Amino acid sequence: MLIDEAVIQKRLDVLAEKILEDFQGKPLVVVALLKGALLFMADLLRRIPVPMEIECISVASYHGGTETSGKVEFLDRTLPDVDGRNVLLLDDILDTGGTLHAVIDKLNEHGAKEIKTCVLLTKDIPRERIREADYTGFVIGDEFVVGYGLDYQGRYRNLPYVGILKDSAI
Ligand code: XMP
Repeated sequence: MLIDEAVIQKRLDVLAEKILEDFQGKPLVVVALLKGALLFMADLLRRIPVPMEIECISVASYHGGTETSGKVEFLDRTLPDVDGRNVLLLDDILDTGGTLHAVIDKLNEHGAKEIKTCVLLTKDIPRERIREADYTGFVIGDEFVVGYGLDYQGRYRNLPYVGILKDSAI
């Protein structure tokens, strides 16, 4: 166990408060990346009582293992309409930054007015692209983690906490 359920939930209160302040009075479209951001999205957004549209897009970069392939694939045929809109982009974890970088590029191509990024976890590693998200839940070490939306080969997403995957489980 790395971050327990109660600690995650408490941190979400703080993140939600900041987001609420920043987006007060701005019509908001939330874009969450599936499937990793599912639990984070559900718990965070119910704490942000402003009008919003919730959209999800599917991207893949891991293909089931513990090393990113470095290539970000968009799995949807169409993207949500973000033209001229304020976007809050949610992901589970900022690792190499490749995913957020690719999605931000895509949303910009589609005319997004402002994009703020929000991640539950940020790995404490050097990154060239996307040094940090606008809102970060927790900074963690360079470990492969699972739980609270994060998976290994499709498993462990439903754990209510974040844990480090033991070598013996790989
Ligand atoms: P990048 O490297 O593009 O990574 O910032 C972001 C995406 O890669 C996945 N990822 C992980 N998934 N445990 C996981 O279960 C991890 O430790 C991990 N690190 C990266 C995740 O899908 C994220 O969206």
